[in-house]
Amino acid sequence: MESLENMKNEYIQKYSDRKLVFGEGKTDGGIMLIGEAPGGEEEKMGRPFVGKAGKNLDEFIELAGLRREDLYITNVVKFRPTSVSEKTGRMVNRTPSREEIEDFVPLLKKEISTYKPYLIVTLGNVPLKAVTGNNRLSIGSCHGVIMESEGLKIYPLYHPASVIYNRNLKNVYASDVKKIKDYIN
Ligand code: URA
Repeated sequence: MESLENMKNEYIQKYSDRKLVFGEGKTDGGIMLIGEAPGGEEEKMGRPFVGKAGKNLDEFIELAGLRREDLYITNVVKFRPTSVSEKTGRMVNRTPSREEIEDFVPLLKKEISTYKPYLIVTLGNVPLKAVTGNNRLSIGSCHGVIMESEGLKIYPLYHPASVIYNRNLKNVYASDVKKIKDYIN
């Protein structure tokens, strides 16, 4: 069977005009956090969740009584999806398209089957749908409850960036994180 490393190399060749940001962290069957796609800072540094959303994620990690180095952190799409803002003419982040997501799902599945996490924490709608293969699921109705799909234990959380833009979500998010802390312990 093809190895994860070989598969990564194929994506590097296919996307030779883009900078790819791969997952990083502990690969010993622990907890895997899955985000949507890298942003500008992540692209620059070549690491997932190091920008503004990463700061919120760090708060989550601390609140859950964990350390970043205890986790494996990755994204569904491995490049930064961008568009040009009509208002400012500047390059901005956008949600990855369905085609982009579908193109990267095999790599994500390979990461999961290689590292065998005992718990997958999905951050927002994109990884929730990608991991379960169910596009009808939505984070608003799934967050904070462990679900099982294809033999995987999945804990859907809101995306840390949505907490930046919607302060009301902050309490919901914090209570979801506390629940996962109890589960882990
Ligand atoms: N948002 C994500 O989903 N992933 C990152 O790596 C950064 C921001």
